[in-house]
Amino acid sequence: MSGCPYFQKKLLSTSKQHLKDEENDDSQSGINKASKGGLIYGDYLQLDKIVTSQVLQSELKGNKIHDEHLFIVTHQAYELWFKQVLWELDSVREIFISGHVRDERNMLKVNNRIHRVVMIFRLLLDQFAVLETMTALDFYDFREYLSPASGFQSLQFRLLENKIGVPHNQRVPYNRRHYRDNFRDQENELLVHSEKELTLLQLVEQWLERTPGLEEDGFNFWGKLETNIFERLRREKENIEQKPASDMKEEMMAELIKQRDLFLSLFDEKRHDHLLSTGQRRLSYKALQGALMIYFYREEPRFQVPFQLLTSLMDIDTLMTKWRYNHVCMVHRMIGSKDGTGGSSGYHYLRSTVSDRYKVFVDLFNLATFLVPRDWVPKLDPSEHTFLYMAECCDSSYCSSSSDDSD
Ligand code: HEM
Repeated sequence: MSGCPYFQKKLLSTSKQHLKDEENDDSQSGINKASKGGLIYGDYLQLDKIVTSQVLQSELKGNKIHDEHLFIVTHQAYELWFKQVLWELDSVREIFISGHVRDERNMLKVNNRIHRVVMIFRLLLDQFAVLETMTALDFYDFREYLSPASGFQSLQFRLLENKIGVPHNQRVPYNRRHYRDNFRDQENELLVHSEKELTLLQLVEQWLERTPGLEEDGFNFWGKLETNIFERLRREKENIEQKPASDMKEEMMAELIKQRDLFLSLFDEKRHDHLLSTGQRRLSYKALQGALMIYFYREEPRFQVPFQLLTSLMDIDTLMTKWRYNHVCMVHRMIGSKDGTGGSSGYHYLRSTVSDRYKVFVDLFNLATFLVPRDWVPKLDPSEHTFLYMAECCDSSYCSSSSDDSD
């Protein structure tokens, strides 16, 4: 049997005698290295700390409630995964910040790590189902012992939101208090620091602004797209005008005007800036152009990896929204409309966080509004538009260091 070298033999044996035999086997085969002074499983993973960290408040109060163990383990598992997500996010942000992303070979690493974050979030969604095997009454039995502790005080969750780029001014107010007021001084400092750092959103924005093909004196994607779209809309208008009067003709014309207004807004930079100031858009005008270009030319070799990255970023937003939704459904089931132990209105507060206010990459979702038929998209000629194949040459200062971050 292949698999975990620490456990493979133990899994096969059931009787005590077997266990004894196997210990002998292990020491001979070198699996149990304790006697030889090598690193052993429990020490490597510091399990003495982890598996002794489930302290039931109910037990301390002399009224041990069975399900509190599950409640603690579930939260701890979430926090461990949050830690891994932060680890991945920081490494990706570092690749962007250090400029190593200019060497496009590193995009694969960025993609891979962001995809890993997506996979972790998928797992985190399912974990609620395990906690939901606890009934509301079982929870009620020990809930009083938790107060005033609350998930609202999860430092890692807030760091995660900040590092991805949840805007502070979009947070739902909680008891008219700043979200940081729930944290101790040292934690508060970490949060302030995370608010000042470049977020994943800002770093992706800078990267999108450099999308090859946007240069006005080069391929000039945006200028060409604008010309193409309005030319096609003009031709459609002519076609509709030639039709005999009918309800259908009026509907077609109304639809065309709607389309034209939509695209007028897309190519209006001032309007974009206004939407930015109200939080309805998050990416700069140039970055939005880059994202749309990647969308349209996603099949070109140079844009395949960037397209996958944009898809994963939307997955993160979607999964975080689903996480909030699954959490609030569970909370509703467990405490109904009671206030939270952290002092919020509980279900009602959490329900209001399941919204676009917390979506970071909302512009990427909205791009689908501006998709047009393929033949409206400016044509690319691979022999002329060589940027499709040539990766951006990395700056010597980047090349001289390792190909990406510290590992
Ligand atoms: C029986 C299960 C649970 C109940 C009844 C519950 C209840 C609540 C309530 C009422 C709040 C709002 C703040 C407050 O007033 O306390 C909250 C927030 C929160 N909880 Fe839970 N929770 C549960 C499980 C979990 C789990 C497993 C996690 C995983 C880490 C978690 C993480 C959070 C986080 C991060 C927040 C802050 C959310 C925000 O402000 O956007 N909760 N929880």
